[in-house]
Amino acid sequence: MKQQVQIFDTTLRDGEQVPGCKLNTAEKTELALLLQNLGVDIIEAGFPVSSPGDFDSVTEISKVIGDTVVCALSRAVKKDIEVAAEALHYARRPRIHTGIGTSDQHIVGKFNTTREDILERAVQCVRWARNFTDDVEFYAEDAGRTSNEYLAQVVEAVIRAGATVVNIPDTTGYCLPHQYGEKVAYLVNHVPNIDRAVISCHCHNDLGLATANSIAGVLSGARQVECTINGLGERAGNTSLEEVVMVLRQHEYLGYYTGINTRQLNPLSRIVSEVMRMPVQPNKAIVGSNAFSHSSGIHQDGFLKSAITYEIIDPEEVGADSSRIVLTARSGRSALAFRFQKIGYQFTRNDIDVLYEKFVQAADNKKEINDGDLLQLADAYVLSQEPA
Ligand code: KIV
Ligand code: ZN
Repeated sequence: MKQQVQIFDTTLRDGEQVPGCKLNTAEKTELALLLQNLGVDIIEAGFPVSSPGDFDSVTEISKVIGDTVVCALSRAVKKDIEVAAEALHYARRPRIHTGIGTSDQHIVGKFNTTREDILERAVQCVRWARNFTDDVEFYAEDAGRTSNEYLAQVVEAVIRAGATVVNIPDTTGYCLPHQYGEKVAYLVNHVPNIDRAVISCHCHNDLGLATANSIAGVLSGARQVECTINGLGERAGNTSLEEVVMVLRQHEYLGYYTGINTRQLNPLSRIVSEVMRMPVQPNKAIVGSNAFSHSSGIHQDGFLKSAITYEIIDPEEVGADSSRIVLTARSGRSALAFRFQKIGYQFTRNDIDVLYEKFVQAADNKKEINDGDLLQLADAYVLSQEPA
């Protein structure tokens, strides 16, 4: 039987931490409703203690969201947890996400303390959060660089204290996919009470491995992935939601599914990009403007004969505009004939041979040949063919 991977969206928290992406309460609430509509399982709405504005955003989001879990972040600090709980007051399904750094870099460099003390604080924060809700997620910040033995001790202790989800963040995007996968597998095999909690992946993209690491985590037993629309997030970003969802869908035989309505991926990507004032790189998987464009002659010829030769995803399935045959100096005759057809010209093979020479000369001087350029080429050619 297929197993569901829960999608935990943190666009409104980790994504919104990006400089320039800050949102007001109305914008956050509008995006939260769209995320609910997309089918995410959990919306991380913000970090209420961080500012009055974020407190209001979490409160307003909690009021309008239905069955989707609304989550608020806190540090392992009593006051943070209380403020998070207060902001979540109206949520139908509230979750408190609390935690602390567990790597030696954090324990010594940030807290100047010991592993024993961190373990104690981890247990205390989960216990405290459980006073407000039954749904408590614990994050072991910088788990990616935390020793597996110590991480297993922390995870066991916080589950005993009441954590229902254990988040294993690769906060600095340091891990290789096999290392991250082994880390999750280690927890599955060495934490005696692990069956009482869901393991969550939270990967950053500093080495471009966030999606690969999250998938490795799922293959090892994680059943929740934390991600953002367009991969927005601190520094190089978080795991991109659209990538994780489509990897699991394209590799259906692995036996996982998500509740995401994939047809909304591109429309929502555009809205998030606009509202957060953060353009999407054209070559971004799934949602980039070139994700379904073909420009080299070899690819175009194959694609025009059968789309699946060069496309593994039907653009309609992810709500993208239909595939584009782009004309550049690297394009071929089939693409040229196809584009002429699209604007109403049915040329013979001989015509195309002649036109192709003119096209290549024009394309060498221009990045892309558009319909206007094609019309000019076609008109000049038709005129040249008329008897004098
Ligand atoms: O990257 C990280 O470790 C985080 C935690 C706060 C979950 O964002
Ligand atoms: Zn993060």
